[in-house]
Amino acid sequence: MPKRKVGFHTPEAIIGNHKVFAGDCNNLLHELPENSVDVLVTSPPYWGQRTSNGTGVEVDPRDYVSSLVEIFSSALVALKPTGVCWINIGDAYNTPVNWRETDHVYSSLGADKNGLDENNSAYKKNRQKRKAFIRKDVSWLQYGNLLALPYRLILGLCDSGFVFRGEVIWKKQNPLPEGRCRRPHRVHEPIFLLAKSEKHEFTISPSIKSVWEFPNEGRKEKHAHFSRYPEELARRCILASGVDLKPETVILDPFAGSGTTGVVAKQLGCSFVGFEIDELHVDSSNDRINNTDHGSWEDAPPSAVRKGAR
Ligand SMILES: C[S@@+](CC[C@H](N)C(=O)[O-])C[C@H]1O[C@@H](n2cnc3c(N)ncnc32)[C@H](O)[C@@H]1O
Repeated sequence: MPKRKVGFHTPEAIIGNHKVFAGDCNNLLHELPENSVDVLVTSPPYWGQRTSNGTGVEVDPRDYVSSLVEIFSSALVALKPTGVCWINIGDAYNTPVNWRETDHVYSSLGADKNGLDENNSAYKKNRQKRKAFIRKDVSWLQYGNLLALPYRLILGLCDSGFVFRGEVIWKKQNPLPEGRCRRPHRVHEPIFLLAKSEKHEFTISPSIKSVWEFPNEGRKEKHAHFSRYPEELARRCILASGVDLKPETVILDPFAGSGTTGVVAKQLGCSFVGFEIDELHVDSSNDRINNTDHGSWEDAPPSAVRKGAR
């Protein structure tokens, strides 16, 4: 029998944990006890923005969606019947993220809308990034289409047993510029709320609104993580979930990155389990969490000191 990396045999064994484990969450999620997680807060890699291993490097966006559905289906087993799952995930246009030498033939940029000059540095820069994935027989895979990957994921999750409970729009106070383009510039990202059952916990008073506005945060560590979300995002998700802020409450992030969810879980006095495939991030996220003061119920903001409403 393969050695277990995580080693929690009962839900109680997770209490007091504040660690990110190294490995592929697709495997490690199976090691979590059933019905052990109160709140899952995560942001999977967005499609085609990574060059290393793990989720998000699939050439075909359909493989990306099905891989995420499989991962979250395993997480669903670990979620308590009263638990909730928050997923922050961005969409992708079916265009190259960064142009390659041959990509000028697709482009509609430039004065005559036939692409920039083929020697333009946009095409010449050596970047290992995604190309458009075009299939003539699949109409949604045509060039330039906003692929609706978050919605395809949500539909897949509903088909595999999740209850879709809501969508929050994170309105960014400091969005990245997108250059000149014939479409709205994106200044928001969605955060989806799902659950195992309609009887999940949630904060009902004050009511949680569906537009949240806060800035992205700068990076401070020596091993910077370039797709980190702000602590405020994780904090709002956990507090909105209406759980008791105590060590018996378990927060999970299967794509832990720099450990932001773990930092916030610890600040709020909850236990935390994270998984991360990139070893460099595992070490720096555990350093970051270890350097975080353990909070408690008493430290929580007044709005959070309340039993979650059912
Ligand atoms: C968008 S980042 C998460 C950032 C995180 N929310 C933070 O604030 O730092 C996604 C992370 O998932 C990791 N990852 C990708 N595929 C994975 C997999 N199959 N299992 C575990 N981690 C994975 C990546 O290395 C990356 O650090």
